[in-house]
Amino acid sequence: MKLILLGPPGAGKGTQAKMLTEEFGIPQISTGDILRAAVKEGTPMGIKAKGFMDSGALVPDEVVIGIVTERLQKEDCNSGFILDGFPRTVPQADALADNLKGLDKDLDAVVSLEVDVEALVERLTGRRTCKECGRGYHIAFDPSRTEGVCDACGGELFQRDDDQEETIRKRLDVYNEQTSPLTDYYAAAGLLKSLDGMQEIGTVQQQMLEVLKAV
Ligand code: AP5
Ligand code: MG
Ligand code: ZN
Repeated sequence: MKLILLGPPGAGKGTQAKMLTEEFGIPQISTGDILRAAVKEGTPMGIKAKGFMDSGALVPDEVVIGIVTERLQKEDCNSGFILDGFPRTVPQADALADNLKGLDKDLDAVVSLEVDVEALVERLTGRRTCKECGRGYHIAFDPSRTEGVCDACGGELFQRDDDQEETIRKRLDVYNEQTSPLTDYYAAAGLLKSLDGMQEIGTVQQQMLEVLKAV
């Protein structure tokens, strides 16, 4: 299964991708996660990316295209992958297409998660993530059993730096301007499947699996 998860910040891409990695035994490739790890390690790429990320802007295309090009060549991508948060611009989508052509691979589907703006803000302000294993939670919609502690590994939960309301609104504007054209792009390629992302996590998950079984 070679899949792109498309959708605005907070749509549930990461939440659904984690489930799909288990279901299909294929890796989740989240450019956001890779960039945050680089920021934490203080690598040259992380130092360059941090300012863009903190302000809610996109990191330059050449940086993220480089990340994904390298990642797709790894052996664990041979049986498939889930791209989460990439591509986000038309040049990124074009670069991905070239890349996959070179690797003799075709995308199976692009699933777009559709969620209302106000719900997105509520989801992101209440999001918590495990420092150790990366599992995501929500203080109201998907709380951990003990506040601030990961159910899966006992790790400490944290709030992302870019999950402040002002930055969230900026990220949503950036999505509308730079990323939303990709729905038409992939519809034209006959790959787009739209899902109602306003439903409960488990319901979205079920419908996602139904859609993917049909491709
Ligand atoms: P990235 O990390 O990709 O962030 P994002 O796209 O803004 O998306 P999020 O991770 O915020 O949302 P999500 O859809 O994964 O939602 P989640 O499942 O966590 O990117 C961060 C930054 O990195 C960018 O701003 C940019 O600077 C840079 N970057 C990354 N990729 C780039 C690229 N390709 N090009 C350029 N720059 C790039 O869910 C959110 C919350 O909602 C959670 O708390 C969850 O529990 C809850 N939730 C999920 N589903 C439901 C549901 N159905 N009902 C109720 N609650 C739900
Ligand atoms: Mg995410
Ligand atoms: Zn954990």
